[in-house]
Amino acid sequence: MFWKRKKPTSKTVATSDPQFEHAFGRKFIRNSHYSLPVDFEEMNRLDFQHFVLRLAMRGNYAAPIHNPHAILDIGSGTGRWGIEMAKAFPKAEVFGVDLVQPPEGSVTYSDERPPNYHFQIGNVTESLNFSEHSFDYVHMRLLFSGIPAVAWPHVVDEMVRVTNIGGWIESVEALPLRNGGPYQTMMGNWFLQTFQLRGIDPYIADKIPDMLNSRGISNISVKKIEVPIGKHGGRLGVLLSTDGNAMVKSLKNLVVSQGLATEELYDIAVSRVADESNTSHSMQPNVITFGQRIT
Ligand SMILES: C[S@@+](CC[C@H](N)C(=O)[O-])C[C@H]1O[C@@H](n2cnc3c(N)ncnc32)[C@H](O)[C@@H]1O
Repeated sequence: MFWKRKKPTSKTVATSDPQFEHAFGRKFIRNSHYSLPVDFEEMNRLDFQHFVLRLAMRGNYAAPIHNPHAILDIGSGTGRWGIEMAKAFPKAEVFGVDLVQPPEGSVTYSDERPPNYHFQIGNVTESLNFSEHSFDYVHMRLLFSGIPAVAWPHVVDEMVRVTNIGGWIESVEALPLRNGGPYQTMMGNWFLQTFQLRGIDPYIADKIPDMLNSRGISNISVKKIEVPIGKHGGRLGVLLSTDGNAMVKSLKNLVVSQGLATEELYDIAVSRVADESNTSHSMQPNVITFGQRIT
């Protein structure tokens, strides 16, 4: 079996900044559960992914927010979502929090950034630097692969803690791809194995509604959006496959450094996945959950 587990290879190289390391030409946070790169290339992917998600969700949010005074985006990435929200709600103060500063050149440092968007370094698995009841709307999108299963109860506690009475919490998380071709399935299995090795729950999206409910959050709504990947999904499907093809490149270090595939096999799989996304009928499920803090 040519895909059987290989001896781990380690090609990480230290950088002058001890917070980061390089592998396969990409920049990563050292000793972090977050295993996607944090470089300019990844920022471009995240921006692109933002546009695709906005199209798929038909907007930037699903919760019934009207005149929020303060909005928090946890794991803000490039800052693009928060900046668009700051423009949509010019009377609100919008805060993005992330483990690392967005790289130079990202929208956070551009003329597009309005004065009511603020960025702060923070780690949601520790504690957020905001007092209780600070925000009317707390948003978190696509952090499932960076937060260990054991940390989720604390993360949800933090989201609830900083939400004002009457305020809304919204989570957008992906589930594993469905109905993939052989290489998409092989790649998906590598990801599932790395998640297992790192204590990540790839099905956390389905558990967030209960976690919010058990903390007294009311008016919970759950929407599942299944986006077709590739040509069978029309324009949106082709855009999503472009994002997916870039994402599998971003995850190379994770799979190869765990010894789940050789570098050569991984590179072959990346190009086969790109081909397959045009012929298979794969689907990407996303779960949007929102609810209101009433006590
Ligand atoms: C996949 S990106 C998604 C970015 C953004 N939410 C979006 O949808 O475009 C995940 C982001 O979460 C950040 N992140 C990961 N773990 C985190 C943590 N424990 N606390 C705060 N941010 C975190 C990463 O640095 C990265 O910018």
